[in-house]
Amino acid sequence: MTSDELREKYINFFLKRGHERIQGKSLLPENDPTVLFTTAGMHPLVPYLLGEDHPAGKNLVNYQKCIRTGDIEQVGNYSHLTFFEMLGNWSLGEYFKKEAIEMSYEFLTSPEWLGIPAEKLGITVFAGDEDAPRDDESAAVWRSLGIPEDRINYLPKADNWWGPAGSTGPCGPDSEMFYDTGRDSCGEECRPGCSCGKWLEIWNDVFMQYNKNSEGKYESLVRKCVDTGMGIERTVTILNGKKSVYETDVFIDIVAAVEKATSSTYGKDDEIDKSIRIISDHIRAATIVLGDTRAVTPSNVGAGYVLRRLIRRAVRHGRKLAGEAVPFPLLSPIAEVAVEKLKGPYPEIIENTSRIRDELDKEEKKFLETLTKGEHEFEKLLPNLLKNPQKIMSGRLAFKLYDTYGFPIELTEELAGENGLSINREEFEEAFRKHQELSRAGGDQVFKGGLADNSEIVTKYHTATHLLHKALRVVLGDHVAQKGSNITAERLRFDFSHGAPMTGEEIKRVQDLVNEQIGKKLPVSMEIMELEKALAEGAIAFFGEKYEERVKVYSIGQKGEEFTKELCGGPHVENTGSLGKFSIQKEQSSSAGVRRIRAVLVT
Ligand code: ALA
Repeated sequence: MTSDELREKYINFFLKRGHERIQGKSLLPENDPTVLFTTAGMHPLVPYLLGEDHPAGKNLVNYQKCIRTGDIEQVGNYSHLTFFEMLGNWSLGEYFKKEAIEMSYEFLTSPEWLGIPAEKLGITVFAGDEDAPRDDESAAVWRSLGIPEDRINYLPKADNWWGPAGSTGPCGPDSEMFYDTGRDSCGEECRPGCSCGKWLEIWNDVFMQYNKNSEGKYESLVRKCVDTGMGIERTVTILNGKKSVYETDVFIDIVAAVEKATSSTYGKDDEIDKSIRIISDHIRAATIVLGDTRAVTPSNVGAGYVLRRLIRRAVRHGRKLAGEAVPFPLLSPIAEVAVEKLKGPYPEIIENTSRIRDELDKEEKKFLETLTKGEHEFEKLLPNLLKNPQKIMSGRLAFKLYDTYGFPIELTEELAGENGLSINREEFEEAFRKHQELSRAGGDQVFKGGLADNSEIVTKYHTATHLLHKALRVVLGDHVAQKGSNITAERLRFDFSHGAPMTGEEIKRVQDLVNEQIGKKLPVSMEIMELEKALAEGAIAFFGEKYEERVKVYSIGQKGEEFTKELCGGPHVENTGSLGKFSIQKEQSSSAGVRRIRAVLVT
C-alpha cells in the first residue's frame, strides 16, 4: 500500500462512519505562541477542542503536515522524522472511548481496511496517578476486542497523557497502538511502549476528559472530546513489511537523489546509511517548510532557526559523504525530488518551488562560507594551541567556535586531529548542555505542542487583532494582509504585508481607529456560512490558506454596518467594550516587505 492509498483509505473509513473531511492547515500555527510549528493534527483544532463549534460539525477527519524537532537527535534511525504526516479523526463532544477504540481496531485489523494481524498489535493505556485514575475503561474496550492482557501496558503521564501545553486547559489520558516489528525484545520486561525498537507506535487515541484548573486540579469535563493521530510514514512502513520509513514510497526517490548527489550507496554501511537518512529527512522537511503558504526563511530565531539547522545539518552530512568533492548546489536537486512526492497531497508547494530552490541554495552557500570562516578562525588559534604541552584544545574554545561561527564540533575535531591535537569533549559537552538548557527554558513548550491558552485576556487580544487588521487596511490600504499573529496574555504581535515603515501619523490613526471601535462597544457575532458567500460579503481570509466549504465568520459591529468581518475559528469577546485601551508599542520590520506591530491592551 502506498502513502497516497493509506491517506485515502483512512479518510474514506471515517467518512463512512459519519465524519466530515476538513482541510489540513499551514505548518506555521496562527495565534499560538506555545509552538513554533504545527506538531499534531489537533493543533489547528484547538479552539474547537476548547468548546467552539466547528462549521463542519462534530465528527471530523483529515491529514495534517506536522513538524517535531524535539528528538531531532534521533533522526537517522529507522522511524524518527522531523516532518511527518498525521492522519486524524476527532469527536467534539460526540463519541468517546468505546467508539473511538472500536473504530481504531476495525481500521487497523479488518481485511477490508489495513488488515494488520491483531496479534501484531500492542497497546498502552494510562496507569493512573494522584490526578486521575487508571484508564480501566480503555483497557476494557481493548480486551473486549480480543487484545490479551499481557499486551496491554499501563504507563504514566509522561507516556500516556496529552495536554495541556500551558498550565491550564483540557487534557486527558491516551491509548497508543504499537506494532510488533518482530525484532528481538530487549528483555523480559519489554512491553508495548518500550523504546528498544521492537514496538513501533503507529496511532494514538487521546481522550480529553479533564480540565486542569488554575489550582492544578483535574476537573471532569462535561464536553469530552477525542483527538487521534496516526503517522502515515510509519504505518506505510509496517504495512509493506519494510524495516524503515526510508524504504517506503515516501522516501525511496529522495534516498536515490541523495545517493546520486553525494555519490554514495545506501544499504552497505551503517554510518553512511545514517547520513543518507538524515539528509533525506532534513531536506524533505526543509522543502515542506519552505513550500508552506506562510513563508519561513532560514534565520537565527524561532521557526527560521529550526529551518536553518535542518539545512546546515544536511550540508554537513553531505560533506561527510562526498568530502570536498561535494557538488554545489547539493540540496536543491534533492528538494526537487521531494517536491514531486509532496505536491499531490500538498499542492501549495507547487507555487513555491522557486522559493524552495533559491532559499536552499542561498543557505547552503552561506553555510559553506561559515565553514571557511570557521577554518580560518581555527588556523588563527592554532599557533597558541600547539604551544599547549598536552596538545589539548579546551572544550570551551571548541564551543565558542560552534556558538559564534556555527562551526560544527565534528569539524573542529577533524582539524584538531590533523594537527595532533585532541579536544576536551567533556568540557565541550558541558558547555553545550548548558546552552541547550538555556534554549530549552524558553523552548520546552515550544516543541511540545498541545492546547493553547484560552484565558479571558488572550480572547480579548484575539478580538483586538481583528480590529487592528481592519484598521491597518483602512489606513494603509487593502494590500495589507496578515502574515502572522502571535498572542500571549501580555501582548499581541501582528505581522502584515506593507512595503515601508509606518509613519508616526499612520500609527496614531490606526491606534485611534481601533480605540474608536472599542469606545463604540460593538457587538461581536459569529455566523457559519458558505465560503463563497463569506468572501463575496468581503470577509477577510488568509491568502493561500485552504478553507472548508463552510466557514465561521466573526463580525464586529451591528449587522449591515460591520467594522470588520473575518474568517476565524474564535473564540472572541462578545462586545468590544470589554477590551480596554489599545496601545501600539512598536512598529518594526519583520522581514522583507513585512512589518510587525506589537500592541497591548490596558485595562
Ligand atoms: N494529538 C495526539 C498526538 O499527536 C493524537 O499523538
